[in-house]
Amino acid sequence: MNKTVFLFAVLSFTIASPSTQAIASEKSARLRFFMTEIHAYYRAIQAGIKNGDFDKAKKSANRAYRFFGEIPGLMPKTNKDGTPLNREIFLKSINTSMKTIAQLKEALTQKDVKRSEELLGDIFKKCAKCHNNILKTSKASQSP
Ligand code: HEC
Repeated sequence: MNKTVFLFAVLSFTIASPSTQAIASEKSARLRFFMTEIHAYYRAIQAGIKNGDFDKAKKSANRAYRFFGEIPGLMPKTNKDGTPLNREIFLKSINTSMKTIAQLKEALTQKDVKRSEELLGDIFKKCAKCHNNILKTSKASQSP
């Protein structure tokens, strides 16, 4: 979804005062929008580290951090299998992701390539864990 469509969705949301179901689908659209942006920032950080452009990497890390901060308000109610989502674990996963991004911002400030790559790798593991484990089933109740 592009930004125009997203803004339109936000506008129609504000004007139309929609049903509960419409609010749920609006939330899910916003969630996917933020996730798509976070993915783009992830890649920009990766490219920034590779090219020694730490300013660019840090800007993207700042934005990714802010966007992660929006996710708790958009948390889905169910896992992919339709069972109720474990909200506590979901929120913990967001929280630890943000903590790691904060550490990454430090490493980028210090232009520490090795540490930055390590932390980016840790962040990637958290993306994968939430998508493949936490969201998949109610049985995925391990640590975030
Ligand atoms: C705490 C859970 C969680 C974490 C951590 C997380 N995501 Fe997501 N992500 C979601 C949810 C929920 C969705 C939307 C549900 C779905 O369709 O899977 C989603 C969807 C996506 C999508 C698909 C968007 C679309 O258009 O459908 C991408 C891409 C994505 N995430 C990338 C990332 C990246 C990259 C990271 C790590 C930097 C990350 N996510 C971390 C929960 C998470």
